[in-house]
Amino acid sequence: MKKQKSKFLAYVFLFILNIASSSCADRDNDFVDKSFDTAKPLYLNLLEVTNGNFKDYPHSLNEDSTIKYLQIDEWTGGFWPGILWFMYNHTKEEKWKEAALQWTHSLESNQYNTSHHDIGFMMFCSYGNALNYVNHPKYQDILIQSAKSLTKRYSPIVGSIQSWNVRKSKGDINLWEYPVIMDNMMNLELLFYASKVTHDPFFKQVAINHAIKTMENHLRKDHSSYHVVNYDPNTGKVLHKQTLQGFSDESTWARGQAWGIYGFTTVYRETKDDRFLQTAMNMADFFLDHPNLPKDKIPYWDFNVGQPGFYPDWDFDANRFKETPRDASAAAIASSALLELSTYVESKHKSKYYNAAVVMLKSLSSDVYLNTDNNNPYFLLKHSTGNLPSNREIDVPLIYADYYFLEALTRLKNMK
Ligand code: GLY
Repeated sequence: MKKQKSKFLAYVFLFILNIASSSCADRDNDFVDKSFDTAKPLYLNLLEVTNGNFKDYPHSLNEDSTIKYLQIDEWTGGFWPGILWFMYNHTKEEKWKEAALQWTHSLESNQYNTSHHDIGFMMFCSYGNALNYVNHPKYQDILIQSAKSLTKRYSPIVGSIQSWNVRKSKGDINLWEYPVIMDNMMNLELLFYASKVTHDPFFKQVAINHAIKTMENHLRKDHSSYHVVNYDPNTGKVLHKQTLQGFSDESTWARGQAWGIYGFTTVYRETKDDRFLQTAMNMADFFLDHPNLPKDKIPYWDFNVGQPGFYPDWDFDANRFKETPRDASAAAIASSALLELSTYVESKHKSKYYNAAVVMLKSLSSDVYLNTDNNNPYFLLKHSTGNLPSNREIDVPLIYADYYFLEALTRLKNMK
């Protein structure tokens, strides 16, 4: 009798536990729904003001609070169509799909763009997402041509894709003849896709070579990263390791580190080569374990702002800001990457990366970062930093912060 009673009590206990944990899970999902619900009216406004235009791609806000647009040949054109695909994915409402199709198609001529490395961002965030919903043979051709355009910037001597054309370094100190930036890791997914659909290994080989060179030359011993590595195009020798958007050459620019975590995770997914997994993990651990990462896990725009031993090549005024500006975009990118990375690693790191991503996403969906207070009529996230050393886009919304945030929320929803 006593035994039966304790069995009964155990069942009751498990039943209560089950209800408690499922309502916890529901509450856990609330921030995903809250974020998409907050996004709806904002993006409807953005659709309305951009309606029928398809030439000006929303990027950020100007100082006078008007929308800052970039043109088709600049790097952020793919994010707005990508956001519309995430909205369609979440709501299943046709209006988002129609808009996503129109904005995706508006980028078609960009498949021939060879003027920088960003074609992966532009075409894979738009057409790449479109492929999840529309099986149009033309999309495949457009992406293959985009991959061909990207490989035009590859040099077998250097073993890397040239990110930017020849330019001066910050402060005009050096001439960069063959600059390669950490961000370039994000363009490789397009190449893996092209090899899969064409069965031509060339694209994949370019991506792997590029990732290996980045691993060799952009990473420091402590797994922090350089933003820019400049090579001698005639010999492939490394000439300079510097920064353009970070605090100083030896500092770690938060978004650069996030691009690296994301990029190496993608390359591991496509190759299953453990070197890339280890690099992604090392970069993630640097980011997450850094003493300067604030409690809410939204990084300052650079991990080393104003620290002794870091010497900026620009006019840094330590008193300009009461608090060092954050970069919500870096957290959005990192959270999306960490969710994927958590699926490739053993249990200790799995929970470390997954839980950190959830903390970041909860912070971003709190009223501190989420535009719930009518901060502006169009963008979802506040508090990103585009390029502080050039005095551009400081503590503003950025379209790619919104994109990677929605991507991360979509990933989280699918994982659950
Ligand atoms: N890829 C440019 C940036 O992250 O600002």
